[in-house]
Amino acid sequence: MTYRSIIEPFRIHSVQAIPNPTRRTRDEALAREGFNLFGLRSSEVVIDLLTDSGTGAMSSAQWAGMIDADESYAGSRSYRRFRDVIKEITGFEHVVPTHQGRAAERILFSVAVKEGEVVPNNTHFDTTRANVEVQGAEALDLVIEEGHDPSSRYPFKGNIDVSRLEASLDVNRGRVPLVMCTVTNNSGGGQPVSLANLREVSALCRSRGVPFFLDACRFAENAYFVKEREPGQADRSVREIAREIFSLADGCTMSAKKDGMSNMGGFLALNDDRLAAECRNVLILTEGFPTYGGLAGYDLEAVAIGLEEVLDESYLRYRIESTRYLAEKIADAGVPIMQPAGGHAVYIDAKAMLSHIPPSEYPGQALAVEIYRAGGIRACEIGSVMFGKPGAAGEDEIPSAMELVRLAIPRRTYTKSHIDFVVEVVLDVASRASAIRGLRMTSQPRWLRHFSCRFESVGEASALV
Ligand code: F0G
Repeated sequence: MTYRSIIEPFRIHSVQAIPNPTRRTRDEALAREGFNLFGLRSSEVVIDLLTDSGTGAMSSAQWAGMIDADESYAGSRSYRRFRDVIKEITGFEHVVPTHQGRAAERILFSVAVKEGEVVPNNTHFDTTRANVEVQGAEALDLVIEEGHDPSSRYPFKGNIDVSRLEASLDVNRGRVPLVMCTVTNNSGGGQPVSLANLREVSALCRSRGVPFFLDACRFAENAYFVKEREPGQADRSVREIAREIFSLADGCTMSAKKDGMSNMGGFLALNDDRLAAECRNVLILTEGFPTYGGLAGYDLEAVAIGLEEVLDESYLRYRIESTRYLAEKIADAGVPIMQPAGGHAVYIDAKAMLSHIPPSEYPGQALAVEIYRAGGIRACEIGSVMFGKPGAAGEDEIPSAMELVRLAIPRRTYTKSHIDFVVEVVLDVASRASAIRGLRMTSQPRWLRHFSCRFESVGEASALV
């Protein structure tokens, strides 16, 4: 067919009511939680764009597989299905199931990374960074310059800066236990990494004898962007491109809550026999026996089926186009966003939109709070709340390079009219941007502070009431 409309490539099979909290309920919820949106109850949220992780709708085939799962402690048929699908898609020899992505990271880094070492990445996701840092190692971000410029339309803003990587491997010779690359680059705006860049990074790592791992949460979306944007790739299938991406690496960590299309699950997959054996030892201590990791048999089934479904190109076309639809609607109306649209999310550039709020008063958080207050839409700050670093004693903290608000789209969950509502709310808030006030952080925990820190409003209470 040659029609232009992109339809959701599924029909709705069961539904869940959407909450409708009043403005007063939303104000009270914000006060109760100290303006931290992670504290909200889901019943206080109208459209939940906090994350695309584990929040998608599963297919009837996944539910059917879950009913028919094998819950055997050892040697489960569901594990074999899970392992075989992952081996087929990734080509990696060893498949270690984990309850989610960060468990795979923790296991890999606790075995492979030591104090004083350096782990480069395009941009570490927050859990990846924390799991590197907890080993006493440095999590080094080496995304290309364009990746720091929200307005640049470079098609592969997730690429690693290869010359900086090379320099870092020289300076830190013997102290880089592995190099990672996150596909797509979530913290950098959901931007894809090109096959050409992955080939270069892979060749460099191989020439230096340094293992190369992918953080593969959104590998299918990345492969679709490669097909769409990279010269010479249009005629290949997404599965073929994905297979080549994995072939360039020595292993991957994966949160199956993203492109695994599952509510729970993850894995570590790798080729090195000795490293795999050590990882399995840690797995048994903290996650479970190697044929289930931290998962139920039904989770293994859901992931195995989800990994096949995510490679369906009509699904991926709808996925990428519908995210782009949201991006274009708000950008065309003048909202500054990270260009071009990412695969799983649209990132509003809060630094540009709220230029009157300094990074020390968290413009991204202030904007996310206002979007919730106005329309009950929950988004996520990806800026100085998440990535700000403590300054020297008595000095201000070091802000993040960008102040973004992420509108993450759960897979197969919301329809176009939900997204039209999101557009309306964002444009309404944007029209009153100059009245939004910053926030002051009043308490924070030691690790991953964005989940539980609290804030108070700076100056006047919001003038938007
Ligand atoms: N790596 C990336 C790139 C991620 O986006 C995430 C999770 C993880 C690792 C960790 O996986 O949650 O299964 O332990 N990202 C979610 C998000 C939470 O909202 O972007 P996990």
